[in-house]
Amino acid sequence: MSTSSHSDKKNVIVRQPPRSFADALTTSQFTNGEKPDYNLALKQHNEYVETFEKLGLNVILLEAEEEYPDCCFVEDQALIVDNHVFFPITGAPSRMGEQKTIIDTITPHMKSIHWCQEPGRIDGGDVVRVGDIFYIGKSKRSNDEGISQFQDFLFKLGFESYVINVPSYSLHLTTLCSAPNSNILLIPESTANDLVFENLPNSVEIIKIPDNETYGCNTIGIGNKVIISEGYSTVKNILSKKGLEIIELPMSEFRAVDGSLTCLSLFYQ
Ligand code: GLY
Repeated sequence: MSTSSHSDKKNVIVRQPPRSFADALTTSQFTNGEKPDYNLALKQHNEYVETFEKLGLNVILLEAEEEYPDCCFVEDQALIVDNHVFFPITGAPSRMGEQKTIIDTITPHMKSIHWCQEPGRIDGGDVVRVGDIFYIGKSKRSNDEGISQFQDFLFKLGFESYVINVPSYSLHLTTLCSAPNSNILLIPESTANDLVFENLPNSVEIIKIPDNETYGCNTIGIGNKVIISEGYSTVKNILSKKGLEIIELPMSEFRAVDGSLTCLSLFYQ
């Protein structure tokens, strides 16, 4: 997930898509409104899980929860920073019940536990960590109160954080960008003026990706490897030239419901 540093990626929590997955929430940013196919989503999810296993991570696979069509998007339900957790109140009312199993799974492994308070709302998908700086998207899902509570949590842990307005056509900040390592930030070309990354260290290169590869800007870096979505040749070529080893995964069914690579995992040490 996007709050984890590279050394955090030892354990990963994932959850299979449920049979009700076709009813997952979507803005149709990346489709013409087609519903995702459950069986194909399951196959793509299995590949995602196998990738982490092959990379040597300890995978905790949670069972699907049928009453929550979006339950595979575990990233939104917990903000884990160096094994301290902030449990958000997520922005979509239909998704709030997904959190119980996540709380039960994560809590025993955390050094400290913090809770978002009303009227705060924040989704994990609105947080992008670049090295030791956190960028938090103000979006349809994350409000000022939720963001400010999460910023207090970060401040107490010694981290800087900044707020970025997420354009209204996008669900989350992670829908638009990612840092596959602490020196690279991928963003779509047309967001260059809107996404303002305050105080970004000079060592971080912002790479602008053509807008037709916006979905490809969401990646997961693990050591010198980077997981990218299949079909984004500019992203692939640029990251490959940077010396990263590329792992491509098919993501079409998750893309249909605004789900990116990072949305499907929660990492901790
Ligand atoms: N479909 C993912 C979400 O809306 O949270």
